[in-house]
Amino acid sequence: MTLAELAAARRTHKAFGPRPVPRATLMELLELARLAPNHHLTQPWRFRVIGPDALGRLKEAAGASEAGKLDRAPTLVVVSAAVTGDLVQDEEDVCATAAATMLVLLAATERGLASYWRTPGVLRTARGRESLGIGRGERVLGLLHLGEPAREPAPRVREPAAAYVAFLP
Ligand SMILES: Cc1cc2nc3c(=O)[nH]c(=O)nc-3n(C[C@H](O)[C@H](O)[C@H](O)COP(=O)(O)O)c2cc1C
Repeated sequence: MTLAELAAARRTHKAFGPRPVPRATLMELLELARLAPNHHLTQPWRFRVIGPDALGRLKEAAGASEAGKLDRAPTLVVVSAAVTGDLVQDEEDVCATAAATMLVLLAATERGLASYWRTPGVLRTARGRESLGIGRGERVLGLLHLGEPAREPAPRVREPAAAYVAFLP
């Protein structure tokens, strides 16, 4: 696939098959993260692959009404950026971590995996963060859902590039 094809093929999936992504495949995806651009080479990205015990704790922190949504995908990965309190540096490091995350999503797509970048409320709570050992020095960017696709998403609707690109004279 060309990059354009890969970018078009990456979609947000909300239905997954039951098989977890093998650890070796996950490592292949996460290895790519370190190729993302990052100012001062801070390498701020952090990834936590959620095992059964961690999932149990996260579901407990989420509460009964939200816990079910954490069962949608067989493999969950929390993405966070290490932050220092320096506003400029932190902004750059969050951007770098988002870029790294996109590489992971594209690599998953390339392998035929379905993915979903979600920002569940539980990861904004102290209890949810504590359940996964996320301290004050990290900004959570989201929870990646990965697995085999179970349903094709609806066709994508987007504005053409002319709507958001300006060539300044
Ligand atoms: C930072 C970020 C957070 C997101 N959080 C959620 C979320 O909490 N719930 C959700 O349904 N989709 C979430 N999404 C997915 C978007 O809704 C999705 O990308 C959008 O609908 C476009 O669809 P596509 O990914 O198939 O192109 C998130 C995407 C990003 C980049």
